Amino acid sequence: MKVMNVRKVYFHYFLYVLYIPYLLFMRVLSGIQPSGDPHLGNYFGSIKPNIDLLGEVENIYFIADLHALTSMHDPKALRLARHDLVLDLLACGFDPEKAILFFQSDVPEHTELAWILSCITPMGLLERAVSYKDKVQNGLEATHGLFSYPVLMAADILLYDSDVVPVGKDQKQHVEMTRDIARKFNHRYGEGTLVVPDVRIREEVAVVPGIDGQKMSKSYGNTIPLFGDEKEIKKAIMGIVTDSKAVAEEKDPDNNTIYRIHKLLLSKEEAKTLAAKYRQGGLGYGDAKKMLFEAYMDFFGPMRARRQVLAERDRKEGYVAQVMGEGAARARKIAGASLERVRRAVGLSA
Ligand code: ADP
Ligand code: TRP
Repeated sequence: MKVMNVRKVYFHYFLYVLYIPYLLFMRVLSGIQPSGDPHLGNYFGSIKPNIDLLGEVENIYFIADLHALTSMHDPKALRLARHDLVLDLLACGFDPEKAILFFQSDVPEHTELAWILSCITPMGLLERAVSYKDKVQNGLEATHGLFSYPVLMAADILLYDSDVVPVGKDQKQHVEMTRDIARKFNHRYGEGTLVVPDVRIREEVAVVPGIDGQKMSKSYGNTIPLFGDEKEIKKAIMGIVTDSKAVAEEKDPDNNTIYRIHKLLLSKEEAKTLAAKYRQGGLGYGDAKKMLFEAYMDFFGPMRARRQVLAERDRKEGYVAQVMGEGAARARKIAGASLERVRRAVGLSA
């Protein structure tokens, strides 16, 4: 028995030793659109998972402002959103020393590669894109940019020889299209020219419910903002929709939007204790919401404070421009080299 345990330990140790270099050589890339104030769903669904990866792998993260042009047509709003998102990400703990952070539009290689890829992307592939149809149905203008959105996204990914693209389910089809485009390119212009990326769906990332119980989303107007003013946050939390159970009644925490949101901000042990309170009866929804508001401010308070300091630093010394300028220079080194490889492969350079 003892021998088996020792073997087991060695086996795990062996796997671990293999795993560390694998992680170090893995390049993970993701992008986020600057489309308004980030909310709790964005934090747990996108911002935090990417911050958690910092230092473990080579991480490339960019603000997809060219993609945002497909839906944002107010220059003032876009200017503000792309700038503010940098402050938000930094305040949430994004360390630009540990990752390359940049604006997509600062790296023109993205659009050049997108055109080259466009010329091998079959129309039929784009016609199958679910997100285009959804967006048009939801009122977005049916432009060529919106239609060819997946080609730009393929360029974003392939330009950095990304190994892994961790995305939510809504983006899975786009990464699969990237794989199809890369395979077709390699078949036509030379195997190995582009790295076919792996799609990693973040199954562990639960869908964060909004204050009405359905998926939290800007388009449903049911969000709790991260950095809005305190009153706005309180109003959203106090507005969480509940059933009409009396204080004394026992409540099922898993079917309760207040608890489902609150749990995200607690350790496992704390969540267990809170769930027991719901089950016991005696906890009214008004009090439960007040507790959630306090937990929310405890959790995001330090980030909110850090954001103020960063905003001040930005006003004084142009911190955002500095960080993004450095990020773009680092990104362009990688992007320039891979674009040159592509240009050579297709016959645009000697
Ligand atoms: P919104 O639905 O508010 O417009 P986006 O579509 O811009 O949000 O999403 C940006 C990122 O945040 C995506 O990676 C998305 O998967 C994630 N995200 C958005 N809402 C949620 C949610 N309710 N739960 C988990 N992740 C979310
Ligand atoms: N389309 C993604 C979204 O809306 C953002 C994005 C653009 C992206 N390019 C990317 C994500 C490349 C991952 C990889 O959320």
